[in-house]
Amino acid sequence: MRPTAAFLRRTTAAGAVALAAFSLQPAAAHAAPAPTPGGTVHSHVVGGTRADQGEFPFMVRLSMGCGGALYAKDIVLTAAHCVDGSGPDTSITATAGVADLQDSAAVKVASTQVLQAPGYNGKGKDWALIKLAKPVDQPTLKIAGADTYNNGDFTIAGWGADKEGGDQQRYLLKATVPFVDDATCRKAYGDSLTPGEEICAGKLDTGGTDTCQGDSGGPMFRKDDGGQWIQVGIVSWGEGCARPGKPGVYTEVSTFAADIQKAASQLGG
Ligand code: ARG
Repeated sequence: MRPTAAFLRRTTAAGAVALAAFSLQPAAAHAAPAPTPGGTVHSHVVGGTRADQGEFPFMVRLSMGCGGALYAKDIVLTAAHCVDGSGPDTSITATAGVADLQDSAAVKVASTQVLQAPGYNGKGKDWALIKLAKPVDQPTLKIAGADTYNNGDFTIAGWGADKEGGDQQRYLLKATVPFVDDATCRKAYGDSLTPGEEICAGKLDTGGTDTCQGDSGGPMFRKDDGGQWIQVGIVSWGEGCARPGKPGVYTEVSTFAADIQKAASQLGG
């Protein structure tokens, strides 16, 4: 993906911080080799564990090296920075229905269209929809329509790097991260944060658990009062991964719920 204005702004503001640290860029789409056998404690997403097959059936891996979630059976919600603008696009492959990307049961479907958030310029508004050539027979993930659930502990999941600079993963990894309020997150990121459009999460004191490169576009979610998964965030950016004092930054889904719904209906969803 090309660098965006905000990408440059962030990296400039960060001074000596490596370009990669603030990168909104999706990771390369290659998968890591199979994990070491034999009792190793696997550390994944960053600081997570392997998800079971079927545990998060709405999770999708996108071929440009991002994650996503099934908003509808034929529409994937991902990050704006994972796509190149809007319009017809048959270049993306979505892999669905598996935790292990090499599982022979993986369902692979091509994209037909992309709709990037209107007004997206690299700061905030980091959401996009990808229309698929055919529906995937998996449950969808409901999005939060209000800020009711923008608190508590969140689940994150993805096939991205298991540490800063780490490899993309073959197996879906999951972890839990606590909500971080805007004022606290602003202390970490200053004006790079767009508080009304972004929601932060992470273990401020210790670090150690976070999404990372290649997890972008994937969902951050929790249970609602009815015990159903509900999506509150989209993996967007952070300074490095899992650093103490540097929470992960996620698109605040509730802010854009109406826009996402409208965009989906434009895609025939
Ligand atoms: N921008 C990254 C990607 O494209 C996601 C980075 C998330 N970083 C974090 N520290 N939570 O995959």
